[in-house]
Amino acid sequence: MSKILIATDGSKYSQQAVDYGVGLAKRMGSGVVALYVINLRSLEMFALGHHDDIGGYDRVNSELKREGEHALDYVASKGEEAGVPVEKLLLRGYPVDVILKMAVDRGVEMIVLGNLGRSGLDHLLMGSVSADVVRRAHCPVLVVRGKP
Ligand SMILES: Nc1ncnc2c1ncn2[C@@H]1O[C@H](COP(=O)(O)OP(=O)(O)OP(=O)(O)O)[C@@H](O)[C@H]1O
Ligand SMILES: [Mg+2]
Repeated sequence: MSKILIATDGSKYSQQAVDYGVGLAKRMGSGVVALYVINLRSLEMFALGHHDDIGGYDRVNSELKREGEHALDYVASKGEEAGVPVEKLLLRGYPVDVILKMAVDRGVEMIVLGNLGRSGLDHLLMGSVSADVVRRAHCPVLVVRGKP
């Protein structure tokens, strides 16, 4: 069975990419690999600003983990509705690197992302994650432009 990778950061933009991506997988007869990456850069930024707050690092990590579980549950429920099998992946690292690596490891046919994410500065065409994935991917990338 062919697979598409849907990357989600739990934002309303990525949710719209999930909705489209799951529908597309259904029409293609494909499975979905749903991926949320706990952003190591966010953890590093926190650690830089709070070098004396050791518990805070764990707290931010757990908050991001919870956000990821929630985002992946959303994909799973959409998959269930549509009858599309969904594999959930919750990993930590730099989002672009992890998305590209998992696309290769899972042998996906296509990557689906939102044009924007959590930062969601809607005067921008694309966020840094979607722009870098388009630039570096070894497979086709579908960027779903979401409504703010
Ligand atoms: N941590 C992540 N894990 C999985 N997918 C992600 C992650 N971050 C972003 N994405 C994917 O990339 C899309 C675009 O998000 P991106 O982060 O590029 O935009 P942004 O948050 O608005 O801008 P920036 O992060 O550059 O400040 C999201 O809709 C989502 O599909
Ligand atoms: Mg972002």
